[in-house]
Order: sequence, then structure tokens, then C-alpha cells
Amino acid sequence: MSIESVAVIGASGHLGPTLLLALQAAGFEVSAVTRASSSYEPPAGIRVIRTDFSLKALQESLRGQDAVVSAIGDAGLDIQMTLVDAAVAAGVRRYIPSNFGADYSRGVVAGFEDTPTAKKNLLDYIGAKATANLSFTWADLTTGLWIDWALVHTPELTGFDLANNTVSLWDSGNEPVATTILTDIGTAVVGLLGLPEDAVNRPFKVASVKTTQNEILAALRSTTRQQWDVKQVSTRDLLQEGHKQLEAGDIWPAHMSLIAVQLFEDGAGRGVHAEPGKGDCRILGVPVRSVESVVEIIVDAWM
Ligand SMILES: NC(=O)c1ccc[n+]([C@@H]2O[C@H](COP(=O)([O-])OP(=O)(O)OC[C@H]3O[C@@H](n4cnc5c(N)ncnc54)[C@H](OP(=O)(O)O)[C@@H]3O)[C@@H](O)[C@H]2O)c1
Repeated sequence: MSIESVAVIGASGHLGPTLLLALQAAGFEVSAVTRASSSYEPPAGIRVIRTDFSLKALQESLRGQDAVVSAIGDAGLDIQMTLVDAAVAAGVRRYIPSNFGADYSRGVVAGFEDTPTAKKNLLDYIGAKATANLSFTWADLTTGLWIDWALVHTPELTGFDLANNTVSLWDSGNEPVATTILTDIGTAVVGLLGLPEDAVNRPFKVASVKTTQNEILAALRSTTRQQWDVKQVSTRDLLQEGHKQLEAGDIWPAHMSLIAVQLFEDGAGRGVHAEPGKGDCRILGVPVRSVESVVEIIVDAWM
């Protein structure tokens, strides 16, 4: 039975709006689930469901939905199991949890274990629910860095400060990272909802472009035709900085430093989870992008 109605949790966040657009364009009947306290107003054609996120209220809210896509922010990760319980109880047939992150199977840098552990525990929980309820299916999506979003919004992680034409190169700047642009995540999610039952219940990994900091810098130089100031920072120093930030309770800056080490440390091999154009990218229709085309998107929109 095909999926027609989809509820998106976290629709008002960084990723949510892109998912709404992709799902709507693909012809799904889309609802946005938001906290009762939220002032969020959805775009035209999207129904809004306001809820207090209790199990009972969520179950009522999700009744009649064929699928749930959760893009809830990290602040809401601890209620994800309740969301899954509610989805199962409401008869939802496919669940995509709020992962959309990195692949931690090659190790996690010290100090950044909490989020990967929470996401893994959730997947184990979802897997057990699917084993016990054959009509409930799931698919998890690893995307790596959202490169177009991250370059604009997280200079502490990517090293690129687009406002001041400066870049901090982590180690040599040559460590490869597999990344995905936001619209391609939308494409992948639409693809996941279209797969038959026997093709899901597993993690999927996609990427639009595999690149390095030095390649991004070269593309920025040629696209902007401006001067870029470069400084070198060792990931050993960055790791120490991240630990100091953690001790001081500066959680967001700490996470930026630690994720930068996680992905960009020279020779660590933790930044490539997928090859663009291959494997799950092909199954889900995620196109191969050049680093130049991604930089052009950013420069056109933001610089
Ligand atoms: N790979 C990457 O580069 C990357 C980057 C960023 C995030 N991510 C991952 O992508 C996923 C989505 O992240 P995001 O940045 O788009 O999320 P976000 O913007 O931080 O939050 C999304 C929405 O979640 C809802 N929310 C927040 N806290 C909540 C809580 N305590 N209880 C219930 N709802 C809550 C809010 O919606 P309402 O106010 O409308 O209820 C919020 O707008 C996360 O798993 C995150 O780890 C990956």
C-alpha cells in the first residue's frame, strides 16, 4: 500500500522547511506537527497539528498518517522514543527518525559521544518496534554535513567565515568529507517514502558531493574573485579547545569544535560515509554535484 499522508515533526527548524517543500512537490498530503507553544505558521497547503507532545496527544495527532518524518532538533531528541511509540500506536506505516547527520561507525571523538549514542539507541528502539509490528517500517538517513547550510551558518565547524573572507584550514585542509545539500536531503526523503516494505528497515547513506576544505576554498576564490585569508589550525589544538568549551558549559561552540575534528582530522577517514552517485544515492535519486556548483548556490544566495 503506497504512502500518501506524511506528518513532519520539526517542520519549523533548519531542515524542516526543505522537507515540507520536497514532500509537497512530490504530491504527498503533508502535515506539520509543532509544539502547542510554537508560533510556527506553515506554508500554504500544509496542515498544522499543534500538540503538547504527550504520548496520548501525539497518538491522536498522528492517527490517519501513513508516514512520519522527524526533523526534530537535538533539544528534542529525548522525546523521540515517545514519538515512535505514538506513531506505532496510531498505525503509522513508515518512520524516518531525526538523524540526517554523520556516520559514527569509524569512531567518535572524545567528548562528543552523547548525540551519536542517543541516535543509535533510538535506531535500536525503532528496529525492535518494527520486529514486533510487521506493518511498521523505518528508514534512517545519514547525510553527512549539510554543506550549503553549514558553510553559511556554522563557520566554527567548516572553518569558512563567508562574512569576512577568512578560512581556518583544519590540519592540511585535504581531508575528504562527503556532504549533502538540503534540497538533495528532500529528494532522498521522498525516495525513502516511495520504497516498498521489503526495501527498508535499514539505514541509508547519501551524499551529493565529496570534497575537501582546500577544494571549497579554490571554488570560493574562483567564484567570488576575491582574496581569502587563510590560517592553519591543528585539529589537536581544536580538540583541546572543544574540551575546554565543554568544561565551561559552552555546549554549542564545543560541539562545533568537536564535529570539525570528527570530520576533518587529517587521515582519520571519518568524513566519508557515502560515494556520490553510488549505492543509496542511486536508489534514492540523489544527484552528483560538483563543489563549484554548490559554492555557486551559496554565493548567489548569501554573498
Ligand atoms: N548534518 C548536518 O549538517 C546537520 C546540521 C544540523 C542538524 N542536523 C540534524 O538534523 C536534525 C534536525 O535538525 P535541525 O537543526 O533542523 O533542528 P532545529 O532547527 O534545531 O529544530 C527543529 C524543530 O524541532 C522542534 N523542537 C525543538 N526542541 C524541541 C523539543 N524540546 N520538543 C519538541 N520539539 C522541539 C522545534 O519545532 P517547533 O518549535 O515548531 O515545535 C524546532 O523548530 C537533527 O537530528 C540534527 O542533529 C544535522
